Amino acid sequence: MAGGLIGKGTANGKQYPGKLTFRVFVTCMVAAFGGLIFGYDLGISGGVTSMDPFLKKFFPDVYAKEMNMKPSDNQYCRFDSQVLTLFTSSLYLAALVASLCASSITRIFGRRLTMLSGGILFLAGAGFNAFAQKVWMLIVGRMLLGFGIGCANQSVPIYVSEVAPYKYRGALNTMFQLAITIGIFVANVLNFFFAKMKNGEGWRYSLGFAAVPAVMIIIGAIFLPDSPSSLIERGKDEKAKQELIKIRGTSDVDEEFKDLVEASESSMAVKHPWATLLKRHYRPQLVMAIAIPFFQQLTGMNVITFYAPVLFRTIGFGSNASLMSSMITGGFNALATFVSIFTVDKVGRRKLFLEGGAQMFICQIVITAAIASKFGVDGNPGMLPIWYAFFVVGFICIYVMGFAWSWGPLGWLVPSEIFPLEVRSAAQSINVSVNMIFTFAIAQVFTSMLCHMKFGLFIFFACFVLVMSGFIYKFLPETKGVPIEEMSVVWQNHSYWKKFVKSASEEANAKVDNSC
Ligand code: BGC
Repeated sequence: MAGGLIGKGTANGKQYPGKLTFRVFVTCMVAAFGGLIFGYDLGISGGVTSMDPFLKKFFPDVYAKEMNMKPSDNQYCRFDSQVLTLFTSSLYLAALVASLCASSITRIFGRRLTMLSGGILFLAGAGFNAFAQKVWMLIVGRMLLGFGIGCANQSVPIYVSEVAPYKYRGALNTMFQLAITIGIFVANVLNFFFAKMKNGEGWRYSLGFAAVPAVMIIIGAIFLPDSPSSLIERGKDEKAKQELIKIRGTSDVDEEFKDLVEASESSMAVKHPWATLLKRHYRPQLVMAIAIPFFQQLTGMNVITFYAPVLFRTIGFGSNASLMSSMITGGFNALATFVSIFTVDKVGRRKLFLEGGAQMFICQIVITAAIASKFGVDGNPGMLPIWYAFFVVGFICIYVMGFAWSWGPLGWLVPSEIFPLEVRSAAQSINVSVNMIFTFAIAQVFTSMLCHMKFGLFIFFACFVLVMSGFIYKFLPETKGVPIEEMSVVWQNHSYWKKFVKSASEEANAKVDNSC
C-alpha cells in the first residue's frame, strides 16, 4: 500500500478526489436491494407460523397443542416446538453453506455475478414455498432461499464498500441495512393482510411474494457495473479505470487507481486467503469477522424479528393484535435506520455502537421487570391491563430503534470496510457464516429458551449487550472517513492491535515474501 501524505481527514491523510455521483448512488441503491431479499425472509416466517391454516396443513401437532391451550397453562411454553422453529431456522443453515462457497465465486467471477446467482436461487425458493403441498417442499424452498441469501450477503456489502467514495461509504453501506429493515417491514405488513384471507391460503401469498425482491436484485445485478477492485482482481485494468472515472465523476483518479492496483497485486500474491487470514498479522480482522456478527446476533434482536407475533401472543395479545404490533416494531426498525444513515459518517461507528448498546441494555432490563412482574415464574398472568400492552410494546420499540442505528447496520458495515483485499472475500465469508450460525441458533432455540428461562431470557441478552459494548470500547478503532485501502493504518495506531500488525515498511517486505 502506498505510504501516506500527512493531512486531515483520513488515517494517514490521504484524500482521493471524487464526489457522490448519481451513478454511485443508484449503483449502491440497487446493490443494497440485495438486503431486501434477506429482510423479507427474516420478517416473513414468524407471521406465517402464527397463521392457523398454515399450522393445520404442515404442523398439525403444533396446531392441536395451540388449540388445546388453556388460559391457566404456562404461557411461556405455548409455542415450544422444535419442528416449527426448524422451518424458520433451516434457511440460515443453507445460507451458511452458501456463504462459504460464495467466497470463491465472488473472487473468481466478481461481486455482480454472485448477486445475480443469489437472486435466481431466491426466485426458485419463493416458487417452491408458494406452491408447497408437503413439508419437504417448504424445506427445499427454505434451503434455496438460504443459498440465495448466502450469495447476496457475501457480495452486496463488499460491493457497496468498494464502489462508494470513502467519505460516504458508511451512509451508502447502511442502505443495505435499510433494505433489510424495509424487507422485514413489508413482510410484517403483508402477513397482517394475507392472514385475513378467507380461503386460508394467505400464507402462500406471503411466501410467494418473496419473488418480488428476487426479481429486483436480478434486474439490478444485470445492469450494475462490476466494482473497479473486482475488475482489477480479474485482470481487466483498463475497464476498471474507466469504471472508476465514471463512478467518481472525475478523471483525477490516478492516485486511487494506483492504490487499488497495488492492493490487488498484493491480494493476488496471496494464494491461500483462508490460511493467510489465520496469520498473526491479520488477527484484528479475524477477531472482528467473528466477534461482530456473533455479538450482533446476541443482542437478541432476532427474537423480535422472528418471533414478535409469538412473543406478543405469549404476553396476552390476540392473533390480530400480535401481527399489528409486529408491524409497528418493524416500522420503527426501518425508520430508525435513517438515523444511522445520516450520522454514521459524522459521529462515527464507535459512538453509535456504544449509544445503541446502552439503549438496548436499559430497555432489556425494563422489559424483564415488566414481564417478571406480571408473569412471574409460573407464566400465568391472569387478566392484563391495556396500559401494560402499550408499555411493553413501547419499550420493545425503543430497544429496536437502538439496534437499528447501531448493531444492525454496523454489524454489516464495519466488517465490510476493515478487510484488506487479499483476505476480503474469505473474511466476509466468515462474517456471514458466523452471522448465519447464530441467526440459526437463536431461531432454533428461542421458543424453548423462553419456555425454560422465562423472563430471564431478556437478562441473558442484556448481559451480552454489556459485554459487547465493553468489547467495542476496548478493541474497535474508529474507521469513519478512512479510505478502504488505507485501513491498515488504524490498526497500526491502535493501542492493543499495534503489536499484531506490521508497519508500512514491514508490510512492503511481507509483500515480497508472499510473492516468492
Ligand atoms: C441482522 C439480522 C436482523 C436485522 C434486523 C440485520 O442486520 O443481521 O439478523 O434480523 O438486522 O433489522
